[in-house]
Amino acid sequence: MKTIISGFSKLSRAEKVAMLIKQQKLSEDLDHTFTNYLHSSEQHLFSDISENVISNYYLPFSIAPNFLINDELHMLPMVIEESSVVAAASKAARFWANNGGFKTKVIDTLKNGQIYFKWDGNIQDLQAFKDELFQLILQVTSDITENMRKRGGGIVDFDLKPVDNMPQTYQFLIKFRTADSMGANFINTCLEAIAPHAMAFIDERFKDEYNVPETIMCILSNYTPDCLVKCTVSCPIDQLQPYAGRYTPAEFAERFKNAVDIAINDPYRAVTHNKGIFNGIDAVVIATGNDFRAIEAGAQAYAARDGRYRSLTRLELDADNFTYTLEIPLALGTVGGLTNTHPLAKSAIEILNHPTAEQLMQIVASAGMANNFSAVASLVTTGIQKGHMKLHLTNILNALNATEAEKQQAIKHFNDQVVSFTEVKRFLKDTK
Ligand code: MEV
Repeated sequence: MKTIISGFSKLSRAEKVAMLIKQQKLSEDLDHTFTNYLHSSEQHLFSDISENVISNYYLPFSIAPNFLINDELHMLPMVIEESSVVAAASKAARFWANNGGFKTKVIDTLKNGQIYFKWDGNIQDLQAFKDELFQLILQVTSDITENMRKRGGGIVDFDLKPVDNMPQTYQFLIKFRTADSMGANFINTCLEAIAPHAMAFIDERFKDEYNVPETIMCILSNYTPDCLVKCTVSCPIDQLQPYAGRYTPAEFAERFKNAVDIAINDPYRAVTHNKGIFNGIDAVVIATGNDFRAIEAGAQAYAARDGRYRSLTRLELDADNFTYTLEIPLALGTVGGLTNTHPLAKSAIEILNHPTAEQLMQIVASAGMANNFSAVASLVTTGIQKGHMKLHLTNILNALNATEAEKQQAIKHFNDQVVSFTEVKRFLKDTK
């Protein structure tokens, strides 16, 4: 019989594991597995990151070399479980390094915070006090923003807006810059400091006409359409030969254009197309200790900004040139958060030579571009499975507990054969 558990968080790690095994009727071997993946000397660094930690969940930390971004070469740290993502990124990076590289530009770095409130007053009347309210916002946050202002950030603007379809519901939409930090804690702290003063200000001005305004909530927005970066790759069409396979470079470019246009116009394809972008984006975002859920949520919303979900990339083709562009909001940080505490996130930042947040935006966008370019190039030529399953072969062999000798034989055998779980299983059985 399973029982409701009280005080789980207060138990020691060993007691948590014992309770888990008992409650879920699990094998005692699990204790060994969880213990095996603890860090031998610095487990506290990982246990302190979260709660109820019983072990560590390993993911591969890889390097994709040869990313030429605005004429500077980078080696990208990538943390991802999907085989072929790092190989695809590396292959595309090498190709583009020989063809001008990734050209990137940060369009802007604005972030948003929101204070929602209920009020029976008239928002137009309140607009007349906008300048005074802005001064109040700056003044009541001046201690909190002092350091950030020294680093070039702070509160830069605000807007007063109604919430669609909700009478008497309004928001302060406050614009921030957060220098090299992602800024979530900074923004939320500012908002919570501002809200009571802003409500008191409104009440003071309008108490004879309207009821006291009431804060509903204060929170940053993960929708950051003005924290935007652009990444472009461009080359003469003839140069695309290495990716063209059995097609001429011009045919390849035309097929590529068709694939991108389909992703612009068909949401089912757009989601998969953008997923290929996030293969690269998330891998670098996770490696550098950034919040991948925030990045995904914001960028996916941006993909639907005109009311329909579309590709985040666009392709321009003229008679001679192939110009491919990714535009994506990326609210990233290179200081604070996990970048301070997780040893491998710190190492990732070090590998990238301590980039600013703006530089990281450009690096991450390039990773997304590289993976998407590789995926679409495969899709319109050989199909995705050829390369994918080759790399997946090792995973299948490991899952089937193949010996080193069997692995070598299998890699040789499947060099010109279709890889599937069933075929690999059959091969191992036949060679026993
Ligand atoms: C697989 O992880 C990603 C792709 O599906 C992306 C795409 O279809 O463009 C190959």
